[in-house]
Amino acid sequence: MKRAVETNLQPTVPQAQRYAKLVAGLAGRTLPCALVDLDAFDRNLAAMAKRAGGKPIRLASKSLRVPALMRRALAYGPAYAGVLCYSVAEAVSLAEQGMDDLLVAYPTCQPAFLNALAQAIGNGRHIVAMADCEQHLAALQAAADRAGTLLEIAFDLDMSFDLPGLHFGVYRSPLNTPDKVMALYAKLMAYPRLRLVGVMGYEAQIAGVGDAVPGKWLENQAVHWLKAWSTPKVAARRKAMVAALRQAGAPLRIVNGGGTGSLESTAADPSVTELGAGSGLYAPVLFDHYRGFQHEPAAFFALEASRSAFDGSLTCQGGGYVASGAVGVHKLPEPVWPIGLQLLGQEGAGEVQTPLFGQVDLALGDRVLFRPAKAGEFLDRFDSVLLQRDGQVVEQVPTYRGMGWQFF
Ligand SMILES: Cc1ncc(COP(=O)(O)O)c(C=O)c1O
Repeated sequence: MKRAVETNLQPTVPQAQRYAKLVAGLAGRTLPCALVDLDAFDRNLAAMAKRAGGKPIRLASKSLRVPALMRRALAYGPAYAGVLCYSVAEAVSLAEQGMDDLLVAYPTCQPAFLNALAQAIGNGRHIVAMADCEQHLAALQAAADRAGTLLEIAFDLDMSFDLPGLHFGVYRSPLNTPDKVMALYAKLMAYPRLRLVGVMGYEAQIAGVGDAVPGKWLENQAVHWLKAWSTPKVAARRKAMVAALRQAGAPLRIVNGGGTGSLESTAADPSVTELGAGSGLYAPVLFDHYRGFQHEPAAFFALEASRSAFDGSLTCQGGGYVASGAVGVHKLPEPVWPIGLQLLGQEGAGEVQTPLFGQVDLALGDRVLFRPAKAGEFLDRFDSVLLQRDGQVVEQVPTYRGMGWQFF
């Protein structure tokens, strides 16, 4: 039996017209290809800036992975400032490209990466490394010693909550009380080459979890309630940690928090100086399902309809760009144009072949447009992105992969 993967709601008429125009603009292009609709991207830039309520957004680079688009966002104005990098090696590569004000969101102990970081800082780059325990401090100090330089660091504050039978949030940092933060701060005195200049407290359970997922009424209610319950608790915890550090004399210039799904509530926390976000600029499928906002789908990929097993079926070449994290059909890309095509439950999006079914007017060799489930990750499969404006390709720019970059 052929079972379809449940897909999103039908696109609205303007959305469908836009998708048709995007596909028409790809005529003659070799498939598969990735594309970004600059009109939608620019509207998302404005909408995210508005939601941030005057606090600057540090760009979460993992959600973009295209230097030209990161530069475009940073050139928008003071609403976007700095990059929230996902690896030390990435921050060094971006610094070499002339990007400045880089905060690495995730810690590492790898000497090779930390040596390169210390070298870049010694050469005048501005990169802040992340730490949440003494081992991180020791690894950073050792690299700073080798390079004979000082390193700026930030502490990652845990914003998750334990409820009976549920961990609401992510498992990353152990720093979940002011006492624990202050204990690490006290240890910092033994690392004379390290300077604490910031903290990051990312409330993943609010920023990264949808509460308006189609067909999930009960879960949506629970998630919505839990988000409302934890929002003031996150703010109170972050505020108490920041206050304790400041009282002890820590000159914190960065207090980073939030993500695309929490811009309003994180911006309302007076202890936060900046937000960290990126996904909303591409607005992938997983970000369709939030009660408080709606951004415009801006990132896509197009596949070739290369064969047909029976009338009413099309199989595309490529397509298995499934998003990471807990497994589930919500991690699959979604075919959006032509309307009426669905993935098959038993095959999903395949390694080299993606079968779809639905009655549509397409010939072999034609294009099928997909949206990724998550923002930046799928671009690790493409060397370049076609930038479209008003349905015309206006530029082709390299992705991280196209630059020969791969970061973990
Ligand atoms: C530390 C941190 N900040 C912010 C974000 C939010 O990024 P986005 O807006 O792309 O969801 C993430 C996403 O995982 C993150 O890990």
